[in-house]
Amino acid sequence: SSNPLWGGRFGAGPAAVMAEINASIGTDKRLWQQDLAGSRAHATMLGAQGIIPIADVDAILGGLAQIEAEYAADGVPEDIALEDIHMTVETRLRALIGPGAGRLHTARSRNDQVATDFRLWVRSACTEVDAALLAFIEALLARAEQHADTILPGFTHLQIAQPVTLGHHLMAYVEMALRDRSRFADAAARMNECPLGSAALAGTGFPVDRDATAAALGFARPTANSLDSVSDRDFALDYLSAAAMAGLHLSRLAEELIIWASQPYGFITLPDAWSTGSSIMPQKRNPDAAELVRAKSGLLLGNFQRLAVIMKGLPLAYSKDMQDDKPPVFEAHDTLGLCLTAMTGMVATIGFNTARMRAAAAAGFSTATDLADWLVREAGVPFREAHDITGRAVRAAEAAGTDLDGLSDADLAAIDPRITPAVRNVLSVEASVASRTSFGGTAPANVRAAIAAARVRL
Ligand code: ARG
Repeated sequence: SSNPLWGGRFGAGPAAVMAEINASIGTDKRLWQQDLAGSRAHATMLGAQGIIPIADVDAILGGLAQIEAEYAADGVPEDIALEDIHMTVETRLRALIGPGAGRLHTARSRNDQVATDFRLWVRSACTEVDAALLAFIEALLARAEQHADTILPGFTHLQIAQPVTLGHHLMAYVEMALRDRSRFADAAARMNECPLGSAALAGTGFPVDRDATAAALGFARPTANSLDSVSDRDFALDYLSAAAMAGLHLSRLAEELIIWASQPYGFITLPDAWSTGSSIMPQKRNPDAAELVRAKSGLLLGNFQRLAVIMKGLPLAYSKDMQDDKPPVFEAHDTLGLCLTAMTGMVATIGFNTARMRAAAAAGFSTATDLADWLVREAGVPFREAHDITGRAVRAAEAAGTDLDGLSDADLAAIDPRITPAVRNVLSVEASVASRTSFGGTAPANVRAAIAAARVRL
């Protein structure tokens, strides 16, 4: 049979596969609350503007309230013949209140309807991500505070570089997560305009009040251009790019946890609750959750690309391609929420093996820069020359099978007479990190100040 909403122009119904490829209800039923909210705002405005009779508005609002109760109790019915959430709601409304339901679609198209629904959904998704990021940041801050003085090796090229504090290392991820929050906040603010009233693409001849519907739905203002309103999915791409970036950050942390949990490092132990065993190797404790966070960042990065590719070739205004905008966003949102929650749980409960970290930090001549800096400061040696002297000290220590502190005073003086026993004050990893007091540096005092400053920024 032909379609109840547009069947007038058609003699026959769609092929079975046409109905299947065309339907989006399985996905966009997730927009049901936004769809009802949009319809309520639109119907109320149509009544206030005298575009449809108040008696019909009242019946529509009553019917929408009943549909809301039905969906809340039993879920959204999925009939692919009705294509999407918009037609599912309208069809149910007609069954409940009769032909007056047909007045709801005055001065409205599914094109501005879906753009409005989806913006509302993505806007609240940004708020949800923000709360999850906040919890993640708070877990990082709590651990950073506990470990403001704990020393671990800082790496460049994954080679031991200089000692740093664990608190400082964790605070690096706080900075990333704070930027992530600002990206979602920025996206939410930019998308906060209402497309409703743009109708199919050209606007409408009815005297709609777009400011009223925008205000009723909590938008800052109506969108300015009807063609852009119905064909813009920047808001979804903004969400996906912020999610991709957050996923990228989570993946870097996941990678570090995986490396740190590996036996040759042994810097951390993940608790039982965040580990899995092996079906064959009884001793195993694998960091699967961290590995899956690392893997799922692939979905987050990929889904930005997926929607960008859908959009990039579309002429104005709406094309049905745009119906495929929702799966990437819904999947990304679910995945990001899962990853953030898992990472927050891991960060809160990791066992830090501080003795292993400290021992590793002392290896690899990690205080060589401190020796060079000391020669500059105490003996007035130009830095390049100090670098060379220290390089020779490292070579001597390596040949002797010791660390820098293991060279005798005589050994050091033989390398350069300006190295006096006072140098021992800077050769320990504790002295090294304590000296790094430049703004943004790793000294424990700086870490405490950075934590306090970050708490103010929450
Ligand atoms: N289900 C559609 C979507 O998600 C709604 C808009 C359909 N508009 C149209 N002209 N076919 O994009």
